[in-house]
Amino acid sequence: MSFRITVTDHDDIGFDCEEDETVLDAADRAGYAIPYSCRKGVCSSCEGGIAAGEAMVRGQGVQAGPAEGVKLCQARPLTDLQITPRIQKVEPVERKTLEAKVRKITRPAPDVAVIQFRLPIGQRAPFRAGQYLRVVMEDGDSRNYSMANPPQKNDGIELHIRHVPGGKFSEQVLSKLDKGQFLTVELPYGEFCLSDNDDMNAVLLATGTGFAPIKSLIENQIALGAERPLKLYWGVNTEADLYMADVAARWAAAHPWISFTPVISSPSDGWDGRTGFVHRAVLEDIPDMSNVEVYACGAPVMIDAARSEFEAEAGLAKDRFFSDAFVASGDEE
Ligand SMILES: Cc1cc2nc3c(=O)[nH]c(=O)nc-3n(C[C@H](O)[C@H](O)[C@H](O)COP(=O)(O)OP(=O)(O)OC[C@H]3O[C@@H](n4cnc5c(N)ncnc54)[C@H](O)[C@@H]3O)c2cc1C
Ligand code: FES
Repeated sequence: MSFRITVTDHDDIGFDCEEDETVLDAADRAGYAIPYSCRKGVCSSCEGGIAAGEAMVRGQGVQAGPAEGVKLCQARPLTDLQITPRIQKVEPVERKTLEAKVRKITRPAPDVAVIQFRLPIGQRAPFRAGQYLRVVMEDGDSRNYSMANPPQKNDGIELHIRHVPGGKFSEQVLSKLDKGQFLTVELPYGEFCLSDNDDMNAVLLATGTGFAPIKSLIENQIALGAERPLKLYWGVNTEADLYMADVAARWAAAHPWISFTPVISSPSDGWDGRTGFVHRAVLEDIPDMSNVEVYACGAPVMIDAARSEFEAEAGLAKDRFFSDAFVASGDEE
């Protein structure tokens, strides 16, 4: 059985949604983009209203219109629905499920694993720089991880995974994962991609393994021969956590349009670079953000602070802040 989804103030938009399908998945399938990030009901990026009709929303119960703040990534219709999200027409998303073979695992920092995968001969990973994939585990539960390689190198996949103590994937699965083994991955997901505003400075702000999609974004720009000014700020706890500082320093040395500022919150006595919260370092350097875009990735607490303080103190426009918060992405969340 399927239900009809219509959109307030958009008479031209309508699509069908199966009863066991989420409104976000049905919109994707029909070629409509609703903003989202985690797709697991945690980050709130996909919140919209229900003007009329009823839906069962995981974590929010039955929501009947008029209702606001409904997580459309978790909403399954119980009747036809009229919704009020931000929405636009795009190409329908075509996702692939691939068996990715582990080529190499390195541990460049105490709690970070970098995994290189090779895809079966002739297979390519379809994604845009900044997007993420889902690793699907044997019981069907999945975890989100951002691609760290640029799309030009899509015969493989590179992931940067931070160890979460007791974590089902980052500890239990990863501790047994070895070269030659396979993982099932589903991609692409996500909207953390650079806009077309090439004349505007882009501040790329990462904490920890939030560096992964930023690496993909920067290597993509280099491969395209683009010269958009990119200011990378990477915040970590200690020097040892800057697990690819050499890579970032090489980008900055080779390309005058890239700058790299590492920021350490708990530095050793020998550190003579920037210290403190990474988003405060950005504010010190760029007190006027009327002509910049910000792309922030990693810890949700950094993303929330950066968004509110950049808007309040530096005049950053709301629609120029883009983010992927690395919230917990397990099904039970
Ligand atoms: C869009 C997106 C992209 C992501 N990309 C990356 C990436 O590139 N690299 C990366 O390292 N991680 C990334 N994450 C986080 C990742 O998806 C997992 O949530 C994380 O690896 C934990 O999974 P786990 O199975 O090890 O832990 P789980 O078994 O899911 O969790 C164990 C415990 O830790 C808590 N927990 C889980 N994740 C976090 C967290 N991030 N912060 C604080 N507590 C947590 C859980 O609530 C639970 O109590 C991303 C998340 C999202 C939403
Ligand atoms: S995309 Fe729906 S809550 Fe994150």
